[in-house]
Amino acid sequence: MHRKLPAIVAALACVSLVAACRAVDSSKEASRVESAAGTAAHAAFDPASWQPPADSTIPDDSLGASIRRGLALVMHTADSLPEYAPGNINCTNCHINGGRNAEAAPLAGSQARFPKYMERTGAVIPLADRVNYCFTRSLAGNRLPVESREMQDILAYIAWLSTGVPVGEGKKLPGAEGILSMPEKLVGDRARGQATFAAKCVACHGPEGAGNPAIPPGIPALWGPRSFSVGASMARQGKAASFIWHNMPFGAAKALTKQEAFDVAAYITSQPRPDSPGKENDWPLGGTPDDVPYATKGHAAYLPPPVIARKNADRAIVPAPAPVRRGAAR
Ligand code: HEC
Ligand code: HEC
Repeated sequence: MHRKLPAIVAALACVSLVAACRAVDSSKEASRVESAAGTAAHAAFDPASWQPPADSTIPDDSLGASIRRGLALVMHTADSLPEYAPGNINCTNCHINGGRNAEAAPLAGSQARFPKYMERTGAVIPLADRVNYCFTRSLAGNRLPVESREMQDILAYIAWLSTGVPVGEGKKLPGAEGILSMPEKLVGDRARGQATFAAKCVACHGPEGAGNPAIPPGIPALWGPRSFSVGASMARQGKAASFIWHNMPFGAAKALTKQEAFDVAAYITSQPRPDSPGKENDWPLGGTPDDVPYATKGHAAYLPPPVIARKNADRAIVPAPAPVRRGAAR
């Protein structure tokens, strides 16, 4: 009987302080519920069944407005930010369906994957720098100021698109490593690839590979001055072959043989494209993958394409994070 005494005493004490007791009780309750839900969500997180949220669920508040602007920038990058994305190519052309396609380097879940160590940089980098690698390399454009409204909107969109993906759990979503690696290490043949291009790609991407923004949903450039730069992952034969096999021809994905995908990738990656200033400093600790088409420390360029000089070369480089100099700021 007297084991219940403390509870009775507490209840009596509450009579005069009803409101306060209720507040204490419900806040305790809330934090218990929250931590239980958190644990349950982590235990239950199943990378194979997780789905990114639909655009129709973007909240109707200030954060939602930012997410919506970020979505618009990812879909219409070149129209929205011509100074930063001067080509005929938008984020969604590679990160298909606004970054939801697990076979096209998904942005869904990226929020939980950064900060991250990147071998190409040889440093741990934040998500904003990763976005800027795509501005400078994949869009062959200029670095977007990290403090800008537009960068923050893109980051808000990526965070929202990653809703429910736990941080630091070690359970990887499909596609978390970027473009899937192709187990078949085939070698493309440029001449055969040219024939495949003429038969299966030219109708949309055009004889000069320049694409056409006027044909819905907007056909991006595969080479030439308005395409991705030589420093983009897509400029590597193996990455391009995987992207193409998994996603092209648009609307008829996986219809090519894997050899055809490597052949057409060899053709596309041999064509002229914008340079990528500073690329020789990539993989500073070595370990450059075989198909990288430019020379780095300990690596000879693999079938390097002709490159087109960049304007504003300094704005096309994303400096790696550097330690603050002691006594530099007060
Ligand atoms: C029916 C039109 C169509 C055909 C045919 C087609 N593509 Fe595409 N391609 C697109 C569209 C549209 C996109 C952008 C996808 C998006 O925004 O969702 C794209 C994107 C790409 C990209 C990534 C973006 C870029 O600019 O690099 C590559 C690479 C690519 N296509 C290669 C090919 C290859 C190779 C073939 C032939 C095997 C091919 N495509 C056939 C319409 C087409
Ligand atoms: C030419 C194709 C292309 C375009 C255009 C492009 N990207 Fe990428 N992006 C990639 C590829 C490929 C990867 C993954 C790298 C790999 O597979 O090695 C990537 C990776 C990323 C990542 C890291 C994903 C992760 O979780 O590791 C982010 C974030 C990103 N891109 C954002 C953007 C944004 C924002 C834009 C538009 C401003 C953009 N990208 C335009 C090809 C592209």
